[in-house]
Amino acid sequence: AKKAVLGPLVGAVDQGTSSTRFLVFNSKTAELLSHHQVEIKQEFPREGWVEQDPKEILHSVYECIEKTCEKLGQLNIDISNIKAIGVSNQRETTVVWDKLTGEPLYNAVAAPVSPGPSDPVAVVPSGSSVPAAGAASVWLDLRTQSTVESLSKRIPGNNNFVKSLTGGASGGVHCTDVTNASRTMLFNIHSLEWDKELCEFFEIPMKILPNVRSSSEIYGLMKAGALEGVPISGCLGDQSAALVGQMCFQDGQAKNTYGTGCFLLCNTGRKCVFSEHGLLTTVAYKLGRDKPVYYALEGSVAIAGAVIRWLRDNLGIIKTSEEIENLAKEVGTSYGCYFVPAFSGLYAPYWEPSARGIICGLTQFTNKCHIAFAALEAVCFQTREILDAMNRDCGIPLSHLQVDGGMTNNKILMQLQADILYIPVVKPSMPETTALGAAMAAGAAEGVGVWSLEPEDLSAVTMERFEPQINAEESEIRYSTWKKAVMKSMGWVT
Ligand code: G3P
Repeated sequence: AKKAVLGPLVGAVDQGTSSTRFLVFNSKTAELLSHHQVEIKQEFPREGWVEQDPKEILHSVYECIEKTCEKLGQLNIDISNIKAIGVSNQRETTVVWDKLTGEPLYNAVAAPVSPGPSDPVAVVPSGSSVPAAGAASVWLDLRTQSTVESLSKRIPGNNNFVKSLTGGASGGVHCTDVTNASRTMLFNIHSLEWDKELCEFFEIPMKILPNVRSSSEIYGLMKAGALEGVPISGCLGDQSAALVGQMCFQDGQAKNTYGTGCFLLCNTGRKCVFSEHGLLTTVAYKLGRDKPVYYALEGSVAIAGAVIRWLRDNLGIIKTSEEIENLAKEVGTSYGCYFVPAFSGLYAPYWEPSARGIICGLTQFTNKCHIAFAALEAVCFQTREILDAMNRDCGIPLSHLQVDGGMTNNKILMQLQADILYIPVVKPSMPETTALGAAMAAGAAEGVGVWSLEPEDLSAVTMERFEPQINAEESEIRYSTWKKAVMKSMGWVT
């Protein structure tokens, strides 16, 4: 017999840099009922290049949906209760394909700054609701650096030309949402349209770009599989999705998500705030065709969870990512070892492409446990850097930090974060806030209407709080030593 459920269900695809997930939530409580996750391969064909196979990404989405539906069946939950699907995705990663044949344009490099390919092609940030075949240049990829440098030289007298406009994608429906579009540097975040001047500047033909829609509306229906016919009605870049999932709807509310990278976003309401301390201005969300757009200030850290994957895959000092917590716990200190994981240069607030990773402060006594601890501390120090920049830009320091993402299950990391920020860190019991935000946007869409976006619809989510446990002076000493290490990481590549 099929089990009775408490309310309509909503599914969410969370397509991140390291893995793809499909999760199903109860829209009346936000309880996570079932999910499936598949890790995604990353290829590094040359130093600084990062690629993924878009077909693998697409197949992983199908696999996760099918497996989650099977698991729901085992729980006697009827999948016909799934009323909508939301999509959240890694941002900036771009896929280009031939729209007539669906064939990949292999090794197309960061499409927004490459010479415009001749029609017919379709280019789409990976958050498009259209399954795409093509070549994906991942957001961590550095190969377009020289292109960026030569384009910068062409920027007329006003260096803020691009920044002031942008704040910083075969068939079916070819669309994306405002949050994804705002990450391409081709989209005008004020007019909410592809910008003719920017497209000309970057030599991208406007006709290959997807239609830009709000983050919450029906874009189309699932065409195949167990959920055929279910509307896809939410779409947000993953960091915007997490902001929604954390209910950061008020001016000044902020969240930090620990995924492959680490991204701190602060809602700035209906106004675009431009940073003077290395942060980006981005579209936060637009939850409905006729709803207003909200903006955010963003601090981006390139390497967070990726450093744990590196310790697993490159150094082999752990077999699973979860083992890092036990290693770090064994010693409870880095013993003066500092690890700056600037594998792709340094992002906010430095934006320093010449930086490369360093591990310093080593002694004869240092062992893998200390390095594991230093890796976790690095994630916390990088967050402190962007929080400091955010506080300076906003003028009012954050009183606590709302956090989410898979890494927040690591209690040592959370305690370290509170110690290093010297403010409380608050984490939800269910860390999949990115997927939750996409599900909320999908469930709230006009024509679906099963999610109210009110706090009472999140009753299954409780909060855990981590208070600073060291003294302020020790926290500052460790942070200033970290800054010394950061200085040493710069200038490795000229
Ligand atoms: O901007 C890149 C970001 O969206 C990637 O997120 O979760 O894969 O680290 P994540």
